[in-house]
Amino acid sequence: MSARTTVPSVQARKARRGAQPLVMVTAYDAPGARMADEAGVDMILVGDSLAMVVLGYDDTLSVTTEDMAHHTAAVARARPAPLIVADLPWMSYHVSTEDTVRNAATLVRAGAQAVKLEGGRKRVPMIEALVDAEIPVMGHVGLTPQSVNAMGGFKVQGREHAAALALVDDAKALAHAGCFAVVLEGMPDEVARMVTDAVDVPTIGIGAGSACDGQVLVLHDVLGIEDRITPKFVRRYASLKSDAVEALQAYAADVRAGRFPGPDESYHLSAEASEALGLYGSTAHTA
Ligand code: KIV
Repeated sequence: MSARTTVPSVQARKARRGAQPLVMVTAYDAPGARMADEAGVDMILVGDSLAMVVLGYDDTLSVTTEDMAHHTAAVARARPAPLIVADLPWMSYHVSTEDTVRNAATLVRAGAQAVKLEGGRKRVPMIEALVDAEIPVMGHVGLTPQSVNAMGGFKVQGREHAAALALVDDAKALAHAGCFAVVLEGMPDEVARMVTDAVDVPTIGIGAGSACDGQVLVLHDVLGIEDRITPKFVRRYASLKSDAVEALQAYAADVRAGRFPGPDESYHLSAEASEALGLYGSTAHTA
């Protein structure tokens, strides 16, 4: 069994200090957590992408703290070695610091070892309150999916000079407030490089190029379970959706043709029990 990843061990993984890049992948249930664990990733993100890849919503705004806790608990029951980071969903950290800490505590009690929240400088009071309550926080700047309506869609951020500098300032503010790592999503490689150079905590990129201290992808994208859209930044390592459809087609064909179940996939009476029931000539086997 591999050693458990801890928050301090993640915080120390800065590429410029010679550290190996961090690997994070999402998971939303126990089988996903077991796969991530056996693959040896460093961190599991119980992402609010749950809304889109598992629950069928068009964006992440519909999931609640209770939904996130339900799925975090399923991941945690697999007792994976990777650090479990759970997303604070939209509106769980926007109203007050008290609300934020209470909602984060719900995720920690469900099994999260850290929480992630989206946004820049304006989240500093919430981050400080969480850190004060001993809850490790991962930041998330750039394309923040919970701001989909404010951004006018899922759009790459930081393309303009001022916007790029604002991202650097945001990430610095998050690190200063106590975030142990910051996700950089949907920004030009050059901007992610500037951010990564500007902060002492690791940056974890998704659609943010190769200069980050680590990378995160959505499990269903990596495995090809979600195959309706392939964002530019996704690399698929398997085609499980089409493999699954083929497997289910083969199962359906076998059932319809009477090929499933076969004798070896069925339970049988002993010869004596069969005989006692008058089933002479039946193909009785021991169970
Ligand atoms: O919810 C999620 O999966 C995320 C990643 C895209 C970083 O926040």
